[in-house]
Amino acid sequence: MGELLDAAMDPTISYDDLAIIRDLWPGKIVVKGVQNVEDSQRLIDAGVDGIILSNHGGRQLDRAPIPFRLLPEVVREVGKDATVMIDTGIMNGADIVASIALGAKFTLIGRAYLYGLMAGGRQGVDRTIAILRSEIERTMKLLGVSTLAELEPRHVTQLTRLMPLAGAPAEAVGGGAPRVRVASGTTARAPKASASASKGTGSRAKN
Ligand SMILES: Cc1cc2nc3c(=O)[nH]c(=O)nc-3n(C[C@H](O)[C@H](O)[C@H](O)COP(=O)(O)O)c2cc1C
Repeated sequence: MGELLDAAMDPTISYDDLAIIRDLWPGKIVVKGVQNVEDSQRLIDAGVDGIILSNHGGRQLDRAPIPFRLLPEVVREVGKDATVMIDTGIMNGADIVASIALGAKFTLIGRAYLYGLMAGGRQGVDRTIAILRSEIERTMKLLGVSTLAELEPRHVTQLTRLMPLAGAPAEAVGGGAPRVRVASGTTARAPKASASASKGTGSRAKN
């Protein structure tokens, strides 16, 4: 498998190659695998029509940047000039709703539909899509929105950091685990083993 990957990945491909493709191809160009704001901007300057933020599901590099975290800044920088899409770690409808709320035009799925495929063939894939659709609708109902256009960044809460509450002794918060301050300003009990309390905070590269 490693040998196959070595053969498939060509690190010599560069922006010069993209310029050649752009010259040759009059249609739309979408580049997948974008992992930072600088490349997003550079790709738009090079004439691509859309970018897909993706670390390919974290399959090769487990610690690659998390697309969901990049999304707000990329949309802010290039969202008006290109279609920004996101892929990696989309495992339920709420992930799709959150991504669209943060400015993605589309989300893509990899493993989610493959799980359905393995479990039930074509019917399994149809079932995956039906589950995602119902989760999208349920999430939107809970958020009180009836169209995707109503979704905004304010509908998304991201735990950007977990840190001990300054000056809060353990006994003052019921002993045991210390309390932590989360981005929204509320407090929560710190998990015992790790601080992976939100999307993508675990060690796997996930959105
Ligand atoms: C079995 C498998 C094979 C894949 N092969 C490729 C590939 O050849 N090229 C590529 O760009 N991404 C490939 N991917 C990555 C997917 O296109 C997609 O980026 C990724 O699965 C999305 O993350 P998710 O699985 O968390 O939804 C592959 C993924 C899986 C699961």
